[in-house]
Amino acid sequence: ASAEYAPAVVVGSGYGAAVAALRLGEAGVKTLVLEMGRLWNAPASDGKVYCSMTAPDRRSMWFKTRTEAPLATFLWLDVINKDITPYPGVLDRVRFPNMSVYVGRGVGGGSLVNGGMAVTPSRAYFQEVLPQVDADAMYATYFPLANRMLGAATVPSAWFESTEWYKYARVSRDQAKTAGLKTVFVPNVYDFDYMQREAAGTATKSALAQEVIYGNNFGKRSLDKTYLAAALGTGNVTIRTLSRARAIRRAADGTYVLTVDRLDDTGAVVSTDEVSCRSLFLGAGSLGTTELLLRARETGTLPALSPQIGRGWGGNGNVMLGRANHIWNTTGANQSTIPVMGIDDWSNATNPVFAEIAPLPAGTETWASLYLAITKNPERGTFTYDAAKDAAVLNWTSTQSAPSVTAAKSLFDRLNSANGTIYRYDLFGDTRAFAADFCYHPLGGCVLGRATDTYGRAVGYDRLYVTDGSLIPGSIGVNPFVTITALAERAMARVLAEDGVG
Ligand code: FDA
Repeated sequence: ASAEYAPAVVVGSGYGAAVAALRLGEAGVKTLVLEMGRLWNAPASDGKVYCSMTAPDRRSMWFKTRTEAPLATFLWLDVINKDITPYPGVLDRVRFPNMSVYVGRGVGGGSLVNGGMAVTPSRAYFQEVLPQVDADAMYATYFPLANRMLGAATVPSAWFESTEWYKYARVSRDQAKTAGLKTVFVPNVYDFDYMQREAAGTATKSALAQEVIYGNNFGKRSLDKTYLAAALGTGNVTIRTLSRARAIRRAADGTYVLTVDRLDDTGAVVSTDEVSCRSLFLGAGSLGTTELLLRARETGTLPALSPQIGRGWGGNGNVMLGRANHIWNTTGANQSTIPVMGIDDWSNATNPVFAEIAPLPAGTETWASLYLAITKNPERGTFTYDAAKDAAVLNWTSTQSAPSVTAAKSLFDRLNSANGTIYRYDLFGDTRAFAADFCYHPLGGCVLGRATDTYGRAVGYDRLYVTDGSLIPGSIGVNPFVTITALAERAMARVLAEDGVG
């Protein structure tokens, strides 16, 4: 059978992919989006599209028999994770030796499961990480465009100061201040008008009902509500779900041919199809895009790809930790799952840290403060292609996580000593205070200006593009989706103007 043809194919439907799909659709290019996860729009028998963190079911995770939440235990008790039936759920934890990576699965990618923090990096650090990119254009045009399109806004401060739902953030802010550390409000894509109605009891609770890493039923402006809705609105974009791109080759006439496995709800491959296209945009994320290109290079289907494919990976220096508060210093049983504040010590010359003040929405007082710290870890991992598994494997040692822990420890030791508090040792399944063996922010693998040109055009091939987090070389100093979106906007503007795609 001859392959189905589309002028443009986009693989994945996270940030980079969604920008590509919208801008292609607007330019009149018929575009097919291939997404391995589900479309999350239909309520299950409980009337909800997504399950909560505290009552996870099969919708929570991507083909697992038990949930694998970032916090493994509470008071060392195995009370957090639950047995589930394997299903194409919305959150995946991809395990490599010494590092596991959390990613979203479904139409919208990471936007379905993330905390919605919409942070623009400091200009100085952006220029340090991506010196080849014109920072003037980014800060005048593409960062503002990305923030506007994503719907980023800051929590109304009067409400923040008064609501019980953000007491946990105020407590962390006070403690940071005692230690001489600066805190900042951080924009978010969650609809704060909706959240205030949740608090008032006039809207169904979502952020205030322990929903976030397994999806938000209401309130969050995930990509299916922003970029992807607009892309579909052009009439030129089609999204095909449960369709996992596996192989990429180039036909004699220069078109790209993708081998695509169609999955069912058990994970079985029900059919394998071929899709061909003139222009191919990869937005499968740091893990997904890197694996597709590494496999193509190593199996010889796209042999001219750069030796840089697979290099320059980092987890944005992520470290998670908890602190134990004094018994009188309660953080509240009621906590919004949506983070709105960070401790900003990035200007610290020795140990720069930007720490998200994270919720611990247990529905009961925990006397704990939780953080996701972003540190400046110079270590980089490399992916190699494992032919037997037909998979990309991340090479990362526990030693490579050590600089992240050192930096986080330096900041939180200060915070603890100023407040007379200690770490929590009961949260990660053993007695560690710091978890640096998983990350939320996988970055790199197809680095801009190395594996691609400075607009994401793959080295070695024309009309083959990388649009996602794999372009960023391992670190960006803040939560990354605004940067991924802005870089994709910048690249699409250039590619559509110059390359004659479609
Ligand atoms: P992304 O990972 O979003 O999308 C890739 C898509 O491609 C997925 O839908 C995947 O299923 C699909 N795919 C992969 N391989 C495929 C294949 N072979 N065929 C077809 N489809 C394929 N960031 C931030 O800025 N603020 C925040 O608050 C948070 N919080 C946060 C919390 C949690 C729990 C997580 C897991 C992550 C965050 N993040 C975050 C990180 C953020 O979500 C992440 O950086 C972006 O989603 C990455 O965007 P990409 O476009 O790179 O890919």
